[in-house]
Amino acid sequence: MRTKVVAGNWKMNNDINSSVTLINEIKKGLNQKNINVKVIICPPFTSLETAYALIKETPIKLGAQNMYFEKSGAFTGEISPLMLKSVGCEYVILGHSERRTIFMESNQLINKKIKAAISNGLNPIFCIGETLEEREAGKTFNVVETQIREGLANLSEQELSNLIIAYEPVWAIGTGRNATPEQAEEVHKFIRDLIANLYSKEFAEKLIIQYGGSVKPENSKDLMSQPDIDGALVGGACLNAESFIKIIESAQ
Ligand code: 13P
Repeated sequence: MRTKVVAGNWKMNNDINSSVTLINEIKKGLNQKNINVKVIICPPFTSLETAYALIKETPIKLGAQNMYFEKSGAFTGEISPLMLKSVGCEYVILGHSERRTIFMESNQLINKKIKAAISNGLNPIFCIGETLEEREAGKTFNVVETQIREGLANLSEQELSNLIIAYEPVWAIGTGRNATPEQAEEVHKFIRDLIANLYSKEFAEKLIIQYGGSVKPENSKDLMSQPDIDGALVGGACLNAESFIKIIESAQ
């Protein structure tokens, strides 16, 4: 049995004050609840250190939303894996569709970032997913397969042992229009079968594959009760403690 993993991607939201408020509300809401779900929060860079101080004595884990692949140097405006480690991050979201489309990140760049994360002891949450145009053209499986083959190129099963994949159909992100549980499950199953082919069945069976895209308390249970959906990567709904906690509870 895979333990469900629910991660909150805060995106470019919350300054220090509102980060502290949100984290305290999440902590309060989860306190004394015996929940067998792994919870990760991914605040913006500026709130990471403060967030870590607030969650380090709790089971909640910390992730960043992006990083560069170099260790240090003349890369103005970038953040390295070691910097993320130094403020308490265990996870890093890589290849998010907003990075791919707004910041022109390619599968090749994402591959370098995944390698750098792993070699520095950070666990990647690797995002993939098709656009509406690609889905309507019947290209969903092709797109997802290319993203996986190129994003994970030259990485061994052993190196990927703590990998999380997040399937986030671009048309479902921030639109209020989630994939139906059947649509999501179809792609999750495809991803797991592909991973079994590229690596091994044992590895594919252990791999956490999250769904992301308009996850809310009203749809999270149906999505996460599908056999190959192992949790959620939540955007908008994680900015409200009550709805984030409801999503976490529904993962049980
Ligand atoms: P929404 O939940 O706001 O659709 O965002 C999903 C997402 O992009 C998480 O990474």
